[in-house]
Order: sequence, then C-alpha cells, then structure tokens
Amino acid sequence: MMIESNSSLKAFNTFSIEAKTQSLFHFKTLQQLPELLALVKRVRAEKRPVLILGAGSNILFCEDFSGLVIKVELSGVDIIESPESYQLQVAAGEDWHQLVTDSIDKGIDGLENLALIPGVVGAAPVQNIGAYGCEFKDFCESVEYIDLDSGEFFNLSAAACLFGYRDSIFKSKKMENALITKVTLTLPKKWQPHSRSGVSNQSDAAQKVTAKEIYHSVCQTRSEKLPDPEQLGNAGSFFKNPVVSKQQAEHLLNLYPNMPHYPQADGNIKLAAGWLIEQANLKGVQCGGAAVHQQQALVLVNQDNACATDIVELAELVRATVEEKFNVSLDHEVRFIGSQGETNLKEVLQHVRA
Ligand code: FAD
Ligand code: EPU
Repeated sequence: MMIESNSSLKAFNTFSIEAKTQSLFHFKTLQQLPELLALVKRVRAEKRPVLILGAGSNILFCEDFSGLVIKVELSGVDIIESPESYQLQVAAGEDWHQLVTDSIDKGIDGLENLALIPGVVGAAPVQNIGAYGCEFKDFCESVEYIDLDSGEFFNLSAAACLFGYRDSIFKSKKMENALITKVTLTLPKKWQPHSRSGVSNQSDAAQKVTAKEIYHSVCQTRSEKLPDPEQLGNAGSFFKNPVVSKQQAEHLLNLYPNMPHYPQADGNIKLAAGWLIEQANLKGVQCGGAAVHQQQALVLVNQDNACATDIVELAELVRATVEEKFNVSLDHEVRFIGSQGETNLKEVLQHVRA
C-alpha cells in the first residue's frame, strides 16, 4: 500500500517538526507512474496541493499539509565509463552523501567537496547545492523530470537549468509540477582539487592532495561545525548569504573592517550571514524550543521540542535584528511549507500573529 492518509511527517523532516499530511505517496519505482498521475489528478480536482519531498533537510513544515506529499524514493545508479570521464546517471531518491562516498571509494573523483550534504539526489539541482567552492552545477550534465500534470518526461541540459547561488529553474513557479526523476553527472578522469576555502589542513602540499583526503577533510570540518540532524534538529543554513552592492559593502567594511566578504563576478559582494548574526549577539538566543546554534549562527536548531511557530518567530527575530543593525536583509534558504503549499516568512508570520 503506497498511499497513506493523515500521516506524520516528523520522521521526514530534519527539523523533526510534528506536522501531518492528508495523503502520502511513496514513489519507489517508475512502474507506479500511472497510479501516481491518477492520484495527482484526483488531488488537483479536489483543489488540494501537491508537495514533492526528498529527505526533508531543507524544509520547514509550518502547519499540517492539506494535500498530497510525494516522497521520492526512486533508486538506481548507472556508471558509464569513457576514455575521458565517468558519467553517473542517478535516480532521484538515492542519498547524496552515499553517492559521493561510493564514487570516491570506486576511484571516481570530483564530488568530494560536496560530501556530507544531507538529502537525496533529486533535490540537489533544486537549490544547486554547494559547499567549499563547488556546486552541483559544476558536475551536472542534465536533469530529467516528469511533468505531473501531463505525464510527459523532459531532459534539461545543465545550461537550461539556470543554476545560480542556491537557485535553479526548479524553484520557479512554472516548474512546480516538475518531479525530478534522474540526474546525469559528468566527472572527468583528469582530476584537480577544487578551491577548498573553509576546509582545515590547507597546507600547500595541496598539490599532492588526493580526492579521498579532501573528502575526509570536508567530512571532518562539517562534523565539527554543523549539527547532526540525528542529534539536533536543523536544516543547515537557515538563510542564504546576502549579496549587497559594492557601495554598501564598503560602507559596512568601514565600520567593521574584519567583516568576511566575497566579491562576485558581477561586482556585487556576498556577505557571511553567520557572521552578521553572530555580531548581532544572537548566538544561543532562543524562542520557545528553537535556538540559534552556538557553533554556527546561520543554523537554527530544534533545541527542545520546538514547534514550527518557535522556529518562525526565531527566524523573524534574527532577520529583523540583522536588518536593524546592518541594514542588510536576509532571505531564508529553507523552503517554508504551509497547509496549501510553499509559503514564506512574511505570510507565515501574518498567519501566526493574526
Ligand atoms: P527536501 O528538503 O526534501 O526538498 C527541498 C526542495 O526540493 C523542496 O522544495 C522540494 O519540493 C524539492 N524537491 C525535492 N526532491 C525533488 C524532486 N525529486 N523533484 C523536484 N523537486 C524536489 N545545502 C547546501 O547547498 N550546501 C550545504 O552545505 C548544506 N549543508 C546542510 C547541512 C545540514 C546539517 C542540513 C540539515 C542541510 C544542509 N543543506 C545544505 C541543505 C540540504 O541538505 C539541501 O538543500 C538538500 O539538497 C535537500 O535535499 P532533501 O532531499 O532533503 O530535499
Ligand atoms: N561565521 C561567523 N560566525 C558564525 C558562522 C560563520 O563569524 O556563527 C563566519 C566564519 O568565520 C566565516 C564566514 O562566516 O568567516 C563563513 O562561514 P562558513 O565558512 O561556516 O560558511 P557559511 O557561509 O556560514 C556556507 C553555506 C553552507 C556551506 C558552507 C561551506 C550558505 C547559505 N551556506 O555557509 O551551506 O556548507 O558555506 O561552503 O551559502 C547550507 O546551504 O545549508 C549550508 C550549510
């Protein structure tokens, strides 16, 4: 039985927030497609929403969901070797970190900087996951998806995915019916280490470093900095790092000469939201059961049986305090899901405070 009713989503989001969904479908194989498409049609006819869910590591369920959650559990990895490269064709429900680990173990190098990012492969293109100088787009050949309304399959080239910083075409309204089924990655055999900013052990015997060493170094750094959702509920960086004009960055740098800042190709400057939050004295601050993480201020954690409202109120406190102190606005990276589908901090606050 693949359709469940009135199911708890607590085990399916890394914040471990209690929320229920009216219907839940475990999408394990493409053979279920006719059943799934018929179900989606029924749900839409009832004017109920549909949510595509991976491992729930970038999601905040703000309330019970009134529609159908499709949990993507498609599996399978095909490796095609050519003289120059390996091509990995990976089903959307495969675990991302397991893919990275298995590739490195097989001597297929390239994904090491993206080790230990939670979630499944099908979600990786959605926000173009990134860490330590690499992004999903650096390896992406194409992304296959099915349109849940028409049942048609499409294969988008990497260029057509419009990847940006924590962004892609899959976040746009016109792609809300696109369920990613498979991604194709190309990893050249001629391997070079990528920039490893932020990773310890940067000695410039770096020339001799292996992908496996970088993999272990990334895993170690991440384990030290970021809370393990199994121990402490969280969804990684809660906000995106803000990008400001050069002029605004220069103004802030006059006031705070030590402020981390990263010039972008278009002349704008990216700032470190974690630094801004820490400088606003928000580390450790709590709202109900939610808290700003002590080791990494960009991460909000479910410290003590938080409900979604605790996290929403804390997010607003952080956003408003940083805006007041630095005149910089923070946008949340985490996707907010309300009873009718995707929503945002402003809308949820209006609802909560009404
Ligand atoms: P979910 O949270 O289930 O979904 C995320 C979004 O993708 C939703 O909008 C969902 O509808 C959509 N989606 C999921 N699957 C599909 C599909 N098959 N088709 C269409 N849409 C789909 N992210 C980074 O970029 N870099 C990091 O370094 C990083 N570190 C993290 C560390 C921790 C401890 C945690 C908890 C999170 C971190 N994240 C990071 C965020 C998260 O891991 C990524 O966003 C990840 O890709 C989410 O995968 P998921 O399967 O959990 O997706
Ligand atoms: N910083 C502080 N205080 C803090 C946190 C950070 O001063 O509490 C400073 C650090 O000292 C450093 C700068 O801010 O100078 C940047 O910090 P860090 O290297 O930890 O990275 P980040 O910008 O906070 C980003 C990504 C992470 C990714 C890491 C590593 C975003 C929103 N976050 O974090 O991605 O793993 O870089 O590359 O871009 C995620 O998206 O969920 C995520 C965890």
